[in-house]
Amino acid sequence: MTGEPLPAFRDDLDLTLAECWRLLQEGATSRHSAFHVPTVATLDERGLPELRTMVLRAAEPERQLLRFHTDRRSAKIAQIARVPAGTIHVYDKSSGIQLRLAANLSIETDGEEVEAAWAASRSFSRICYRVTEAPGREVEHPEAVAFDHGAADGGRSRFCILLARIHRIEWLHLAHAGHRRAVFELIEKNAAKPEWTGRWLVP
Ligand SMILES: Cc1cc2nc3c(=O)[nH]c(=O)nc-3n(C[C@H](O)[C@H](O)[C@H](O)COP(=O)(O)O)c2cc1C
Repeated sequence: MTGEPLPAFRDDLDLTLAECWRLLQEGATSRHSAFHVPTVATLDERGLPELRTMVLRAAEPERQLLRFHTDRRSAKIAQIARVPAGTIHVYDKSSGIQLRLAANLSIETDGEEVEAAWAASRSFSRICYRVTEAPGREVEHPEAVAFDHGAADGGRSRFCILLARIHRIEWLHLAHAGHRRAVFELIEKNAAKPEWTGRWLVP
């Protein structure tokens, strides 16, 4: 068969898991990566799934953690307070890889990690946090959205981080040579060092 050489991770569970985290870390640093803008799903007050695109800001395999930035007033905050669990989905057309990540979700408004995230955020991104009314509120006209550009804290009081602690990863790799599907589950034996167990699934 001609075409691309088969990747080393193809038939190896350990390398597949490492590739998941490599792609997520790349997504956090490269806006050209499909993994830069995953879909984050939560449950709404009716118990129905609510999905939205979010920019992936950090991926830390050691902490099994993904970080996103958002507005404290947005609808997802109340949803996460009610049900602190969600799923993150990405599909990368160029590599044929889909990830489905089950996570425990939490919102942090204060502390070192939040301050560092705010300090690192660009002035263009900060403008979103100067909107005076809560995101999602109805307005008479799109131009009627007011910005508090003189806010003393620049919008910091509306900024928060969403931490997704991943405990299950489902991998799907579409390939002409044969699809591959695998699931990885976190074993909580030793929180200091993550240990995953992986199994192949029928694609
Ligand atoms: C490419 C793209 C990137 C986005 N990034 C973020 C983000 O990082 N944080 C965020 O809160 N919303 C982001 N949004 C907007 C969300 O998709 C969503 O509309 C918003 O957060 C409101 O969601 P909610 O009402 O469920 O809270 C992004 C949208 C797009 C299209």
